[in-house]
Amino acid sequence: MQAPQHRFFRPPVLSSWLFAALAATVAACAPPSSCFAASTADTPQWRSALHYTPQRNWMNDPNGLVYYKGLYHLFYQYNPHGNFWGDMSWGHATSHDLIHWEEHAVALPANQSEEIFSGSVVVDARNTSGFGTAKTPPLVALYTSVYKAGSRHEAGVQAQSVAYSTDDGVTWRQYAHNPVLTLSPESKQFRDPKVSWFAPGGYWLMATVVADAHVVKFYRSDNLIDWTFLSDFTLPNVPHRGALWEMPDLFALPLDGDPSRLKWVMIVNVNPWSIAGGSGAMYFVGQFDGTRFVADDVAPAGSDPARYHWLDHGADYYAAGTFSNAPSGKAVTIGWMSNWDYASHVPTAPWKGAMALPRELALKTIDGRPQLISVPPPSYVSMVKQLPATRIDAIDVSSATRDLARPARGSVQNIRMTIRPDTAQRVGLIVRASASGDVGTRIFYDTRMQTLIVDRSRSGNTWFSGAFSKAHIVNLPLNDGRLDLQVVIDRNSVEVFADRGRAVVTDLIFPAAGDNHVRVFAEGGDARFSDVAITDID
Ligand code: FRU
Repeated sequence: MQAPQHRFFRPPVLSSWLFAALAATVAACAPPSSCFAASTADTPQWRSALHYTPQRNWMNDPNGLVYYKGLYHLFYQYNPHGNFWGDMSWGHATSHDLIHWEEHAVALPANQSEEIFSGSVVVDARNTSGFGTAKTPPLVALYTSVYKAGSRHEAGVQAQSVAYSTDDGVTWRQYAHNPVLTLSPESKQFRDPKVSWFAPGGYWLMATVVADAHVVKFYRSDNLIDWTFLSDFTLPNVPHRGALWEMPDLFALPLDGDPSRLKWVMIVNVNPWSIAGGSGAMYFVGQFDGTRFVADDVAPAGSDPARYHWLDHGADYYAAGTFSNAPSGKAVTIGWMSNWDYASHVPTAPWKGAMALPRELALKTIDGRPQLISVPPPSYVSMVKQLPATRIDAIDVSSATRDLARPARGSVQNIRMTIRPDTAQRVGLIVRASASGDVGTRIFYDTRMQTLIVDRSRSGNTWFSGAFSKAHIVNLPLNDGRLDLQVVIDRNSVEVFADRGRAVVTDLIFPAAGDNHVRVFAEGGDARFSDVAITDID
C-alpha cells in the first residue's frame, strides 16, 4: 500500500514548471506505446457540461460549502499555478441552482508561510466572532494551515485557522492570531475542520480528524476562535490501518421524514479502503448528545468495506460534505469526482478534477436499518423535466443487444428506465458506446448475484493509470422484480442512481467525443425495459 502521507510530498529538486510538464506528459500517454510522444493538448471532449470543473488547473475536495443570500458557494482545493496537486489554495465558484456554476477569483491563496487545506464556512448570523457587525454578519471559514519551512511553525504541521469575509464571500481576510487550534507536536496530521451550529446547545461544533490515527475529534466554541475539546470518535477495531480518515461531517436528519425521530449521520472519507478501491465516503448513523457521537452499529473487527455504509459505490466520489445553512435544513452534498488512486494521472487538460452532481440526502429505514438515500437536487429534476425526451413504453429483449435509434443518442443525457430482468442472467444498458459496439460503459444487473454493476473496462481511455479500476458492484435485491434506474451521463462521467437513490455509483469515463450510442441488452434469457425516458441535456 502506498504510504499515506505520500501525496503531500513534493520532489524537492524539480521546479514546479518541470514537475507540471512531466505530470502532463505522463497523464497524456495514450495509447501506452506513445507515452513520450504525447502532447499536453486540451481535452474539450471531456469537459463536463453538468458538473463543475475549474477553467484551468488542478482541483480536489469541495471546501466551505455554504448557502447564503440565494447563492450556493463552492470553495475547493485548488492549485492556481498548475494542473497538478500543489500550492493548495481555496478556489471559489457560486451557483443559484447547483447546476450552473460561475468561477470566481481564488478566495484563499497559498502564501510564503502556509498552504490552505480543506475546511468549512459558516454564516455567523449573530456575529459571535466579532468579525462583522450585527447588520453585516461575517462568513467565517475554518481551514487547515499547512506550514512551510521558514514560517514561524515547524514545516509540515497542520493546524486549524480562521478567515472571514464581510462582503458575502467575495474577499477573505485571515485572522491575525492564527492558528486557533493545533495538536502540534503530538500530531502533524490534524485537519479538515467542519463547523456547524449545534442548536440544542447554542454553540458552534467542529468535527476534525487526526487523519493517520483514524480519529474524529469534536470541539465546541462560542465565538469560532476559542475551541474546547469535547470527545473523540474512532472504531474499536480499525479495519484499515495505514489508510487516512479525512473530511468528516456531522449532521442530523429525520428518519423516514419524521421530525420527531432525528438521527445523526457522520460522514468519514477514507483513503484508501473504499468499497470501490482507493478513496471513498463512508458514513455512520447514530446519536450525538452535544458532546459525543455514538454509532448505532459498527461492523465487527476484521470486516471488509462491504460491511460499512457508503455514500456512493463508484470509484469517483470523495471528500463529500454538506452545505451549511442549506434552504429548509436539507442535507445537500457535493463530492469530488475522482480518486486519489489515479487523480494525478487523469488525462484532462487544461484542468484536472470535477465535482459530482450535488445530491439531496434523506434517511430511510431499509432492511430494518437507517440508511442514506441520495438523489439529484430538485433543480436538476425540474431542468430535465422541461426538456423534450425520447420516450419508449417498453422494449423486450431476449438474449440480444439492441442499439436504440438515433434520437436516443447523446453524450450529456439523463436516462430513466425500469428493468424487469425476468429470465435474463444479466440485463442492462451500454452508454457512451461506439458505433461498432467495441467501446461503451456497461451498467447492468446480475440476477444470480443480485448485484448492480458499472463496468468501465471498455469505456474509452482506461490506460492512463494502472490503478483505474474497471468494475464497481453494489448488492441490491430487486424491488418487486424490478430495478428503477436514473443515469446521469456527462462527457466524462456516469452517475447511476438505483432504486430512487438507494444505491449510487459514480464513475469517471474517458470516451471519444463521437461515442454516443445507447444500447440495451439481455444475456441468457428475456428482459423488459419499460418507461424509458432519455433526455438530451447538451
Ligand atoms: C482530502 C485531503 C484533505 C486535505 C486536502 C489536501 O482529499 O487529503 O484531507 O485537507 O485533501 O488537498
